[in-house]
Amino acid sequence: MTAHGPAKWHMLALVVIALATLSFHYGFLLPSSHHHGGVLHAIHGRLCYIPIILGAIWFGLRGGVVTALAIALLSLPYPRIKGVTDRDVLLGEYTEMVFYLAIGLVAGILIEQQRLERKKSEALAADLAVKERLSSLGHMAAGLAHEIKNPLGSIQGVAEILADDAPPNTRKRDLLEVLKKESKRLNTVVEDFLRFARPRPPKLERASLERVLDGVISQLALESRGKEIQIARKSSPDLPPVSIDPEQIQQVFLNIIQNAITADGTRHVEVAPTRGEGADQDSVVITVRDDGEGIAPEILPRVFDPFFTTRDSGTGLGLAISHQIVREHGGRITIRSERRRGTQVTVFLPVRKE
Ligand SMILES: Nc1ncnc2c1ncn2[C@@H]1O[C@H](COP(=O)(O)OP(=O)(O)OP(=O)(O)O)[C@@H](O)[C@H]1O
Ligand SMILES: [Mg+2]
Repeated sequence: MTAHGPAKWHMLALVVIALATLSFHYGFLLPSSHHHGGVLHAIHGRLCYIPIILGAIWFGLRGGVVTALAIALLSLPYPRIKGVTDRDVLLGEYTEMVFYLAIGLVAGILIEQQRLERKKSEALAADLAVKERLSSLGHMAAGLAHEIKNPLGSIQGVAEILADDAPPNTRKRDLLEVLKKESKRLNTVVEDFLRFARPRPPKLERASLERVLDGVISQLALESRGKEIQIARKSSPDLPPVSIDPEQIQQVFLNIIQNAITADGTRHVEVAPTRGEGADQDSVVITVRDDGEGIAPEILPRVFDPFFTTRDSGTGLGLAISHQIVREHGGRITIRSERRRGTQVTVFLPVRKE
């Protein structure tokens, strides 16, 4: 390692100061008394703390310890040179050296700790700056999406009318069908994005969770006709009442069950609402289990990230929106998955307090 800029000057200053105090010690700088002891020696002992602490301030733990070691080593010959023989005095000298090391160590540790704290708060500030920028970008994107929504709705409507008017099995009809399909998809993306970017607070009401689930299942069963996928809901007689926004919770299970159906290899999907047990006894727990391809462990932590998707036609907002809605309801979602075995998504919703 080579020292640059201020580090070089600090190193130089450290060496000069350490040598100065040592010269003082050995009597090179000021005529010291011929025998050991006295005020000068006592002063020297304290003076040595200065370079040690400076070493720690400038170079951290290593700086403090190395300076202390150097000073201790360089003052090692002192008692011999001065002809000190008294056992107590010798002991005092060596204790002093141990003190140097201790001071270097403590000062070094304190300085390193302080540096770490400073780094942490700097990282935090940087993080906040990024978040603020993202949030203003988010506002702009939401505004843009909102502006796109209306004309897009018109395009979609016109495409539908024109497609219905065009004679079947003609090129014009095919093209209009493409326009219809793509504008519908775009509309869904914009709506999903707005739902995520501008969530509305849930309008809680006492509703039947089973009815919501059944509604979603029959809608999706219709869509997945011909794919030979079975979607079954387990019955649960003692399900406690919940306060939910039925429309939003429907959206949550639409996303989750849709994911289960879309996963490669899924043949069965089971939806099981139950009363929570143990620590979750104040929750209703709904598990959606599929026997599809599963999720690779390295991507599992990212599935709730907005716009994270592994699917060609996916937007990656399904789970992000679901997570947000469930959180707004005071609940939580967890996912467990095993490659080629299947995925289990569990939604916890708080039981309504009477
Ligand atoms: N049941 C599941 N089986 C396998 N992979 C899943 C399952 N559920 C989620 N995933 C993975 O998580 C990713 C994110 O899911 P999410 O629902 O948020 O987005 P998407 O389905 O890709 O797109 P969108 O729902 O917006 O149309 C998916 O792309 C997929 O890789
Ligand atoms: Mg999805």
